Amino acid sequence: MMADERGRFITLEGAEGVGKTSLLPFVRELIESSGVELMCTREPGGTPLGEDLREVLLNSDHAIVGKAEALLMFAARAQHVETVIEPALAEGVWVLCDRFTDASFAYQGGGRELGVAQVAVLEQWVHGYLQPDLTLLLDASREASLARMRRRREVDRIEREDELFFGRVRQAYRQRAVDYPDRVKLIDANPAFEQVCESAAAVLTDALGDWEAQSVLRQ
Ligand code: TMP
Repeated sequence: MMADERGRFITLEGAEGVGKTSLLPFVRELIESSGVELMCTREPGGTPLGEDLREVLLNSDHAIVGKAEALLMFAARAQHVETVIEPALAEGVWVLCDRFTDASFAYQGGGRELGVAQVAVLEQWVHGYLQPDLTLLLDASREASLARMRRRREVDRIEREDELFFGRVRQAYRQRAVDYPDRVKLIDANPAFEQVCESAAAVLTDALGDWEAQSVLRQ
C-alpha cells in the first residue's frame, strides 16, 4: 500500500451468540499479516465517553426507550468517528471495528422497530461521508446462537430481550447484506469454528487482493 493512502475501514457484525468475539482475533491477525498497521476498536465504546455510554446502555437499570437507545448509540459513535476512526483512517491506519452502524439498523431499526428510515437519518447526520469498506456479518440460526449464549454467565440489558426481538435483529441484519451486497458479506456461522474462520478468510483475502490491485493501479 502507498504511504499516503487512506486506511481501510472493516467492521464485524452479528447478533448475540454468533461467535463474533471468538472470530475477532483471527480476523485481526489475518489483516495484520498483510503488513498494514491496524487499530482495533468497538462500539458502543472506543473512546472514554463511548465506554461510559456503553455502561449506561448495557449495564444500567434504566428502562431506556428505543429512541433514547438509538441516540445514545449515535452519541457514542459521533465521538468515536470524529476523534478516533476518521483520524486513524486519514493517517493511513486501518481500522477494525467490532460493530458499527449496521448494528443500529439491526437492533434499533429492527429489534426496537424504529425502522430503517429513522436510523438512516442519524447515520446521515453523524457519518454520512463515511461507510465501512467491508463488513463481515456473522449469521447463525437462533438455536445455534442460543446454545452459545447459554454458556455465558452474565447477560446485559440488551441480551435480556426476548426471542421475537432477536428474530427481528437477525432479519434486519440479513437485509443489510441484501441491500449492500458489495460491502456486507454474510458468513454462515452455524458450522464449527474452523469452518467459520475459513469462510471469513476467503472473504478477507478477496477484499485484500482487490484493494492491493487498486493501490498498484494508482501508483
Ligand atoms: P457486544 O459486546 O457484542 O459488542 O455488545 C454490544 C451490544 O450493543 C449488543 O447487544 C448490540 C448492541 N448494539 C446496539 O444495539 N446498537 C448499536 O448501534 C451497537 C453498536 C450495538
